[in-house]
Parts: sequence; structure tokens; C-alpha cells
Amino acid sequence: MCGIIGYIGNNTAPKILTESLKKLEYRGYDSTGIALLDNNSRLVIVKASGTVNNFKKKLDLNKLTGKIGIGHTRWATHGEPNNINAHPHTDCNNKISIVHNGIIENHQEIRHSLEKSGHKFLSQTDSECISHLIEEYLNNNDDIEKAIRHTANTIQGANVVVIIHKEHPNKLFCFKVGSAGGLIIGNGNNEMFVSSDIPAIIPYTSTVTYLSTNEIAIISSEKVEYKNLEGISITKKTNTIEINRDSISKGEFKHYMLKEIHDQPQAITDTIGSRVSFTDNKIKFEKFPFTNQEIKEFSKIILIGMGTSLHACMVAKNWFESITRIPTEVDNSSEFRYRDIILNEKSLIISISQSGETADTIAAMEKFKSSNSKQITLSNSPKSQTSQIADYTIDIRAGLEIGVASTKTFMCSLTTLYLLSLFLGEKRNSLEKTKITAQLSELAKLPRIISNMLDNQNQYKIIAKKYYPYSNFLYLGRGLNYPLAMEGALKLKEISYIHAEGYPAGEMKHGPIALIDQNMPVVVLIPKDKMLDKMLINLNEVKARNGTIIAITTENTNYIENLANDIIFIPKTSDELIPIIMSIPMQLISYHIALNKKCNIDMPRNLAKSVTVE
Ligand code: G6P
Repeated sequence: MCGIIGYIGNNTAPKILTESLKKLEYRGYDSTGIALLDNNSRLVIVKASGTVNNFKKKLDLNKLTGKIGIGHTRWATHGEPNNINAHPHTDCNNKISIVHNGIIENHQEIRHSLEKSGHKFLSQTDSECISHLIEEYLNNNDDIEKAIRHTANTIQGANVVVIIHKEHPNKLFCFKVGSAGGLIIGNGNNEMFVSSDIPAIIPYTSTVTYLSTNEIAIISSEKVEYKNLEGISITKKTNTIEINRDSISKGEFKHYMLKEIHDQPQAITDTIGSRVSFTDNKIKFEKFPFTNQEIKEFSKIILIGMGTSLHACMVAKNWFESITRIPTEVDNSSEFRYRDIILNEKSLIISISQSGETADTIAAMEKFKSSNSKQITLSNSPKSQTSQIADYTIDIRAGLEIGVASTKTFMCSLTTLYLLSLFLGEKRNSLEKTKITAQLSELAKLPRIISNMLDNQNQYKIIAKKYYPYSNFLYLGRGLNYPLAMEGALKLKEISYIHAEGYPAGEMKHGPIALIDQNMPVVVLIPKDKMLDKMLINLNEVKARNGTIIAITTENTNYIENLANDIIFIPKTSDELIPIIMSIPMQLISYHIALNKKCNIDMPRNLAKSVTVE
């Protein structure tokens, strides 16, 4: 949540900040703002509610000057998304300006005490405490670094902050406490960049350093000094990032989401990549940290994640159980973190977070670190915060995903989880060699199958045109396709704002059936697999209540044709891999419906791509 940016160097800060904010907008788009120390040594702040484009309309970039500044794109937590609550915030004397990502848990106390000392707050945000706190500490001691350290030690919760001060025009200051999203420092040529995420930095430099928790950076255009919260200097490693600059553009596509759906054949190829040797049908995970003995002794797997990543966990539970024969459970990270679960050194926690920043997932991982259980994390950002907690990180290799609704990261998480289950199964001898060979050969066909599916989207366009005016949808599936029904419903509500529910088909009779009439389209995931007969019963039950059925199936049968109002065909693959290709209809139905409804597909209202607050 919230994108933050900072710049110091010889180029024009307002232009760089505004362009960079556009690249961070997926993190929140409730408001946009920048603060500059301009060429006349003034602190200039420009902000507007809404998106970066809205902000740009308000701004005459040519009139703004300055070679140092900070910027922010907001996902509101405290205070409505208006102009006053937009960042950057200042102190009483307009000398200090800050941008913030996170939640200050003790902000009320701090505000109350500062107000008593005479500070005047303008906004309803928790963030404004920071500029006033720094000001307050500077009233007693004019050491800015000390004041910032003091502030970092005073505020509670997980927070990332970037600061400029009028009397320190050659320095940007930032700090991080806890896990409130990343903070990356990019080293350019006599210029430095600070950003919540890589896309904003990559046009300028590929040399970066990741700020860790309880660290401060003092940045000038030539160098960065890192300190801990006691003020002791620390040395940090710089990294060279590799990212395909083309992945930042939409290319020929109308939306990032559509581009990312089309990226999937390549993304899944990259995910499988060097991990599978098709000549001897072996799966390899580089530097896998657990011995064969430890793998054999695993007695429990717990898969955790949120949103789309949770749905990937739900699919994978079936794979881990049947392939590795290890009892497996799934939990939502925000629930798991508060459980009193029994874990030991034979338990394996597998967390999934495409961003590696989701606050609840990080907190759950941290909490159970002391249980001695082993931890693997899957991430699309392998240097992210989750990877610093886990014993082992698996890069899902989806490439940069900008559309807020996850698409290719879901498919690549599924593929990685499937490979991991085969890998563990092989080590535990719970799977016959011939089965592994057969599954790998099916897996190898997926990129081509998916590419063919994407070539013809007519059936989705027709369905979307017919169904976009409806206000409620029900999605039904069984077994491996039940989580896909949940994912289909989630995609639809996220980007088209249509109310949709995903249910295990067997549960339908226990409540949802009361809703069924001709105004409630029911999307039934009914591939020809071992659940077909059971699903046909559900199809009949919907039909008997005058329901409108959209069936998604691998092949036509008279039964389905007679019962469904519309049918979408998907290709055949092995039963285990159906959920991977079933993601395509889930994505495309939602995309085309949202397109018909003229929704803001890449930036749906109220959402953000990474949720760094609880
Ligand atoms: C947000 C995003 C979703 C994502 C979820 C979990 O809600 O909008 O697309 O699935 O967070 O994110 P993670 O980065 O942990 O996979």
C-alpha cells in the first residue's frame, strides 16, 4: 500500500518524481503528492486527490524547480482520500516534509501529546505525527539525524518514511521499522533514488540497496550512509537488478491486465525453466536447504497466503496431499497468525506472496519462526521481505505484474507449487517414477495450450456482452476447481464490482441455492474429470430452479449442452493440471465483463496490489 519515492541529484526532481509515481500507482491511487526544495530554497508541496494523471492536470511541471524531493501515492488508512490527507505532510513551520507507508499504532497518543505542546495538525492522518515529532525533537536538539532516529524509535508499528528538511537541502533521509513494504535505494550517476519498488527506479539505474528494518539511510547525490537506530554505521551490500524494461510497458494491449494474461505462456515457461530436466525427468530446486531425511520426516504442511495467493494455496493442498502424502492444511495468513497451532521441526510452512510484502503473511511467518518449523516462501520478488524470514525462497518468475488483479502471478504460483509437490513426492518416494514422467510431459504442453486459448477470445467476448448487466454471480466447482471458482468470483468482483461468490458445488444446497433464479448467472466449472457426475447433479439442481448456467468444460456432452445456457470450452490436460488452465476463463470472463462495464481495470477502486498493513 502507498508508493513512496525520493530523488536527489542534478536533474529536475518534479519531473522524475511525477514519472516515478506513475510507476508506483498500483500500490494505491487515492491521492498523489510531491514536496520539493526548489531552486529558491523554498519547500513547495503540490498534492491532489485521485490518480497521478489527475495530479498532473493540477500541476504545471514547467513551473516547478528543485533537485531534491519526495513523492507519494496513497492508499488511505486514516482519514478520507482528500487533498488535505494526501501526502507529503509538513510540520508547523513548513520546514520538514515527509512521505509515509505503514500504520503508526500509537499515533493518537503522539498527536495528543504534540497538540498539548502547541503543534497544529492539518490532516486526519497518522502520518502527520512524523513531521511534527521530528520538529518537536529538533526544538530540543538541532541534530536532524538524532531527531529522525528518535522519531523512528517513538512510533510503533511497521513504517517506512522518507524525509526532506529545508535546512538540509543536500540530504534525503529515510528509515524503516518493521515490515511496511520495501524501501529500495537506487545509486545513479551523481544522483540517488528512493522507492517502494523497483519499477520506479529501473529507468534510471539497476544498482540498488534494500533498506532493512531498524535502519536509517542518509542520502546525498554522491553517497549513502546507512545506520541502525542507535546511530551506528552499517555496511550494506548493493545488488544489480535484472528486469526486462519492456515488461513495464503495456505494449500493444489496452490494459496491463490483458498484457499480463497474454504474458502467461512465456511466464509459465520461465517458471518451469531450468527447474525441470526433461531428458531424465528430474526436478531441481537450486540450493534446496532441507536434506532428504528431513523431507521424509515432514509430518505436516501448512500453506498460507491472502487473496489470489490463498487460492493458489487451496489448489496446492490437493496436490501436496495426494503427491507427497503429507497431511496438508491451508489458512488465510491473517487468521493463521493468531492461531495457537501446534508446530514442530517436522512442520513445513509454505507461504505465497507475489509481492513478498503482504503484512499478514509476513507477520504469520515471523510469529512461527520460533516454532522451529521449516519455512519455504514463494515470491515474484525474491529479495522481498518474506524471503528474509523464510529458510528458502522460490522465485515464481512471472515477471513484473502491474495490473492490480493478479493473473500471471497466480498461474506461476500454481505451476511452482505443482513442481514443488512433485519434487517432494519424488524425495519421499510417494510417487511412482512413471507418474512423474507423465505429469512433466503434460506440464511441458501447458505454454502451448495456454497460448492457443488466448488466441481465440471470442467466446469470452460474447458471454461478457450478454452477462455484464447482471448484478450477482455464483461460481461453483469441486475438488481442484473449487478454489478456481473462488478465484473466478474474486476476479469478477475486483475489477467489475459485480457481487460474486465462489462455492464448493456440494455446499450449494446449504444456502446459496436460495438465491438462484434467472437473474443470477451460475458459472459452473465442470471439466471432464472424476467429479463430472457430481457436478452434473449440481447443474440439474440449478436448472430446476430456473437458474442461468454458464458451463466451463473440456468437452461437450449432451448433458451439459442440454442444461447450460452458454458453454465455454477449454482444452484437455491431466486432471491435476486443469486448475492451471482453468485460470484463463476465470481471468477472461472478468476482464471482458469489466471492459463492457467500462471499469478502471488496472486500478480498481479501493484496492492495491500489495497490502502492507494489517
Ligand atoms: C492484494 C492484491 C491481490 C493479491 C493479494 C495478496 O489483495 O490486490 O491481487 O492476491 O493482495 O498479495 P500477495 O502479494 O501476498 O500475493
